[in-house]
Amino acid sequence: MKIDILTIFPDFFRGPLDYGIIRRARETCLAEVNIHDLRNFTKDKHRTVDDRPFGGGEGMVLKPEPIFECLESLGDLAPRSERISESAKQSVIVLSPQGRTLDQSLAAEFSVLERIVMICGRYEGVDERVSEHLADREVSIGDYVLSGGEMGAAVILDTVIRLIPGAVGNEASTRQESFTEPGVARALVPANAPNSTCLSGGLLDYPHYTRPADFRGMPVPEVLVNGNHEDIRRWRRKTALTKTLRNRPDLLKRVVLTDEDRELLNEIRSLQSVI
Ligand code: ADE
Repeated sequence: MKIDILTIFPDFFRGPLDYGIIRRARETCLAEVNIHDLRNFTKDKHRTVDDRPFGGGEGMVLKPEPIFECLESLGDLAPRSERISESAKQSVIVLSPQGRTLDQSLAAEFSVLERIVMICGRYEGVDERVSEHLADREVSIGDYVLSGGEMGAAVILDTVIRLIPGAVGNEASTRQESFTEPGVARALVPANAPNSTCLSGGLLDYPHYTRPADFRGMPVPEVLVNGNHEDIRRWRRKTALTKTLRNRPDLLKRVVLTDEDRELLNEIRSLQSVI
């Protein structure tokens, strides 16, 4: 996969690109990431990338010229009309709080593309002609306003690269993750895969522990040390349900609950009413 990032803060990406899975994916050529400094596509001596908004108002808006020219300098980019088709293998994204919210299924869609270009907005926004005529979608990483798209681009980079087959050591772990929707999980799980005891299937993940079994008087739950596989499976499901009920009750509405889940939820709720 080839990823291009257009930004006025190219140095921002030194950290995210140089560690862990992203670094390994780059070194093994699973992903090629190029950072482009938008100021290199300005023509005035101050290298101006922003201007005041038409119609008045607070703040500055990123000018269209450097962004269009930077994008046009990238080789092998399909025209926008092709990029918006169903079978598109490329996408040009504007990072914006007005965009579609990133979730695991959108990350999975991105992970099968051959090329992703991310345009990082700044200040009060980006000239709308970039979204209308150059990019094919706007993506937000959550319902809050950042000072720019760079954080968002780094988040997308990480979420997408770790879904590329071979990028994460243990591929099964990307299949088990909480936010892998049932449909997405099926797509990533080979048809003959054994039924995992820990596919969280739309729930938040269960808690994990490692050695020491007793740390400063805080013991690992007994069931994980001495329990049998069936007890561990049930404990994990119950703790995943407990966490989901506490932190993300909205997810429970989307999950198809089994009879066992309902039984466990009743146990959790009756325990909570006692506390
Ligand atoms: N730029 C500013 N806020 C943002 C957000 N929430 N997501 C993506 N880009 C942004």
